[in-house]
Amino acid sequence: MIPFVDLKSQYLSIKSEIDAAVIGVLESTQFVLGSAVAAFEKSFASYCQTEHAIGVNSGTSALHLALLAAGIGEGDEVITTPFTFVATVSAIDYARAKPVFVDIDPESQSIDPSKIEAAITPRTKAIMPVHLHGRPVDMDPILEIAKRRKLLVIEDAAQAHGAEYKGRRCGSMGDIGCFSFYPGKNLGAYGEGGAVTTNNPEYAKMTRILRDWGTDKKYYHDYKGFNYRMEGVQGAILGVKMKYIEEWTEARRRHAARYDELLAGQAYRAPPPPAHMRHVYHVYAIRTPKREAMMKHLTEKGVQHGIHYPVPVHLQKAFAELGGKPGDFPHAERATQETLSLPMFPEMKPEQVDAVAAAVRSFSG
Ligand SMILES: Cc1ncc(COP(=O)(O)O)c(C=O)c1O
Repeated sequence: MIPFVDLKSQYLSIKSEIDAAVIGVLESTQFVLGSAVAAFEKSFASYCQTEHAIGVNSGTSALHLALLAAGIGEGDEVITTPFTFVATVSAIDYARAKPVFVDIDPESQSIDPSKIEAAITPRTKAIMPVHLHGRPVDMDPILEIAKRRKLLVIEDAAQAHGAEYKGRRCGSMGDIGCFSFYPGKNLGAYGEGGAVTTNNPEYAKMTRILRDWGTDKKYYHDYKGFNYRMEGVQGAILGVKMKYIEEWTEARRRHAARYDELLAGQAYRAPPPPAHMRHVYHVYAIRTPKREAMMKHLTEKGVQHGIHYPVPVHLQKAFAELGGKPGDFPHAERATQETLSLPMFPEMKPEQVDAVAAAVRSFSG
């Protein structure tokens, strides 16, 4: 059986450092925020090429706080993609703003910049591109539209730690970036975690205040805030993992390059990104209209797999109130019907990558 991800082998590879870091927090009793979180924030900001990184308790909280820190609220509209994890859209909803969907480009599977302007109204405040699967969005046209139309750009970089677009890291190009450290992410905590990145000191300050009950001074609440603080143990674990993130990312990229090579010429291979993008392969996805049959075949061959994601957000029941219907965003809908994720984790052995590719190739449809 080839697993889809393997969190245990990564833990074992750095066990002594992780265990010592966790014990260090227990002994310090800095269970919430504290010096381990502060040190991690510093190191993550530098990694993301931003001035500030603020640790929070999930990627969803990061998105929620980014929107609030940017002053987005009731009656505002935020443009995003329907081909994403539901959290992107839920965060807009938490901020009481309205999600407005724009279809994806069928090749990149990211929001199609050429369709954004048609979705802008006088209420539009921000564009929220999602670097899905770790593949950077084509940011230049989005940044150009945002500048010209005076909109903010909030990047959902939950899956894109270390991904680059023309040398710029995801999470540093827009006004604010949002990351998740859910355990299976490229940089994963051992529990929940997230971060907001920005070069704007006001947004950074507001995010820090809002994550901690809206207070700058204990028990004086200038804003209605939240308990969205990062835990000390998670900060310490992430701090250790920062030493390895580049090594792990390069391993993912090597596995992806090998998949690309072995699946070259096959109809179901997703097009690799252009050279100016550093895809970090949180997910390595192929596409096939015969997904059900392919999944059955892979299961028979002992290859675990996943679907990211099976339903576009405009067709999720939870968001029926937005009035989405089949056919509204045909490229996103097709992507949700055809996308299939193959095993991908840094510790994969070359023979496992080869075995997965052989299993895919042996599918006769
Ligand atoms: C694209 C995207 N946005 C947001 C999130 C939310 O992050 P979290 O699960 O840490 O709340 C995730 C992760 O699950 C995600 O993949």
